[in-house]
Amino acid sequence: MLKQTSPKNGLFTFTESEGVGTVVLDCPGEKVNKLTMEGMGHLSNLFEEIAQSKTLKVLVFTSLKPSIFIAGADIRMIQEMTDKEEAYQLVRKGQKILHQLVKLPFPTVAAINGACLGGGLELALACDFRVVSNSEKTQLGQPEVNLGILPGFGGTQRLPRLIGLRAALPMILSGKPVAAKKAYRLKLADAILSETFFESDLETFVTQIQKGPFRRSLLKRRQKKGLVRLFMDHSVIFTGFVIYLAKKDILKKTKGFYPAPLLALKSIQKGFHRPMMLALRVEARLFSELVTTPICKSLIQLFFHQDALKKEPFIKGSFEPRDIKRASVLGAGLMGGGIAWLFSHRVGDIRIKDLYWDSIQHSYQAAREIYSQLEKRRRVTPSEVTMKMHRISGTLEYTGLHHVDVVMEAIVESMGVKKRVLSDVEALVSDHTIIASNTSSLSITQMASDLKVPERFIGFHFFSPVNRMPLIEVIPGDKTSPEVVASMVAFARQLKKTPVVVKNCPGFLVNRVLLPYVSEAVFLIQDGVATNTIDALADSFGMPLGPLSLADEVGLDVGFKVMLSLEDGYGDRMKRPQLMLMLSELEEFYGKKSGVGFYTYSGKKKHVNPQVKQLVQELEMKKRAVPEEDILDRLFLILVNEAARCLEENVVSQPAYLDMAMVMGTGFPPFRGGVCAYADSLGIQVVVDRLKFLSEKYGSRFEPASLLVDMAKSGKTFY
Ligand code: NAI
Repeated sequence: MLKQTSPKNGLFTFTESEGVGTVVLDCPGEKVNKLTMEGMGHLSNLFEEIAQSKTLKVLVFTSLKPSIFIAGADIRMIQEMTDKEEAYQLVRKGQKILHQLVKLPFPTVAAINGACLGGGLELALACDFRVVSNSEKTQLGQPEVNLGILPGFGGTQRLPRLIGLRAALPMILSGKPVAAKKAYRLKLADAILSETFFESDLETFVTQIQKGPFRRSLLKRRQKKGLVRLFMDHSVIFTGFVIYLAKKDILKKTKGFYPAPLLALKSIQKGFHRPMMLALRVEARLFSELVTTPICKSLIQLFFHQDALKKEPFIKGSFEPRDIKRASVLGAGLMGGGIAWLFSHRVGDIRIKDLYWDSIQHSYQAAREIYSQLEKRRRVTPSEVTMKMHRISGTLEYTGLHHVDVVMEAIVESMGVKKRVLSDVEALVSDHTIIASNTSSLSITQMASDLKVPERFIGFHFFSPVNRMPLIEVIPGDKTSPEVVASMVAFARQLKKTPVVVKNCPGFLVNRVLLPYVSEAVFLIQDGVATNTIDALADSFGMPLGPLSLADEVGLDVGFKVMLSLEDGYGDRMKRPQLMLMLSELEEFYGKKSGVGFYTYSGKKKHVNPQVKQLVQELEMKKRAVPEEDILDRLFLILVNEAARCLEENVVSQPAYLDMAMVMGTGFPPFRGGVCAYADSLGIQVVVDRLKFLSEKYGSRFEPASLLVDMAKSGKTFY
């Protein structure tokens, strides 16, 4: 029997009993297991030692962490890699350690009951067999591209060899993990064990794996490849074609802004038909190219921001969050429908109240449509959809309000109407009910002013479309109780969204920072710049949608109202462009939903609306040539400037949360690390100088925020 290694090696303990060696992964003091170079060094020593063993018949890797096998390599270590050659050497070292594992002279098994990601999956791939539990938490994936790198411990080579190119490419290039059933179907896992009886089932599996015929039967299953896979994997022409299509798809999805999926593809392409040792060298080289790029560092920084946001309590003191099981949503419009779907999916019964049955019916359809999409992607079963759809009910009266834990108001954006409706609602709900508003921009304090118990009222701002956007702004009014804030923060997390608590001010955080960018696009049209030039330049910056397309998408009627609130709140700095006032007077000029906005829409076709240009002529404003550089700075520095003001006024507590909110709420390009990180990358002094220049040339709305001026003077940066 070999001696037991110390559990203090930072990663695992090793025991041997009756020929079965067990590596129990358990990083001390950490919630998850992660692969550090130190821990891997200890693994290397162990592999060296047991390779000589005369008694070992099988080696099993398991984890003591609940729902985690290995979450990945240590991200701090990746963040600290700044030198290409050092990074290359480090990755080669990791590859060699996993090669030691591959070469062990007895069967090795990764027993996965939970998340097995990144370096964790690469370790599992270096084992001879993988078994997975049927737990919902079991996920196998190579998410490295999300951090701007590629799997560097053999993932781009072993995964395609094991499961075939067609199955491996989406896993590596999108970073999306697969669940247990799919892993088994793809032959990434050799067996699925019951989560409840995981230990005893594993014991049986380990006993069987020591028998030759059982091992051979598993390998035989793996070797059974369909005709398509045989063609794709063995014909160089087919491989080339698959790679060509994958590259086209990456470029379409990333617009070329993210090098990681492209280099991951290159690593697969260059290594797939080569001997493993050569292939691994190519992988390490390409990894070292990616890991030192600013894009990788921005993505890792965002990862840490997100992690911090997930744990942020936002409120001092400890409050037991309220149990929220039943809800009502007022308003069955675009947002109400989305909120009803989300609640039915994640929590329980929800009742929608509107003035019209037609609207309620649209909400049902909207929820059904989202469920159908999930069903297609096998995220829910048909019976779950039926059950969850039954959780949604509709009413034109205020029936059932007395029983709900939370009322979410999502009616028209009008202070008068909202206040009236909220007073009616307050009279009908029970004492424990929280009342929340989904307003985009109106004051939460003012909205609560007629309520008898304003302590229970709060802003809870979803983003559209609710099923896709991960952010919720939680906005306490002056009188909202901290316990209600804590409850709604916990509730947002229960909905699997990311909450960020922001101060009550017109537009709150995200719309306040974003709206000047949309308005600026309209000022640019007034200056004579073409609609599609503006959107194309925003596109080239990395925004998911140009500002004018975005305005059409959100709905110009909604946009007009938000702009008005911001103008009321911030005065001249946020004055609405004259063209916007003209457009708001036109009938049916609501953007995509009415088919007419800055663009016209018919079916899937979208064209620049010539009517807008005619209206600009009528404005009789002086046109001028605006250089591209000015267009970009007008759009994006006005956004930086407003972000700085938000930090100055403590609308949000730190740049990291602001950046995360802008990435999650508006799609601000993650590769730029967020608005503040973008300002840092330009240099704060450069930002201030450009804002001064723009202010003199185009108007005082560009006057730099005092925070930026002070930062420039003292040489400070946001990070
Ligand atoms: P919408 O116009 O699509 O829907 C509003 C619904 O409220 C309509 O069905 C209307 O019949 C109903 N309604 C009006 N008065 C009512 C009352 N007294 N009782 C019950 N129902 C009533 O509006 P949308 O876009 O869903 O917006 C709703 C709220 O959400 C607004 O405050 C808006 O600012 C906010 N919001 C909108 C976003 C967007 O992208 N459209 C994003 C985030 C927030």
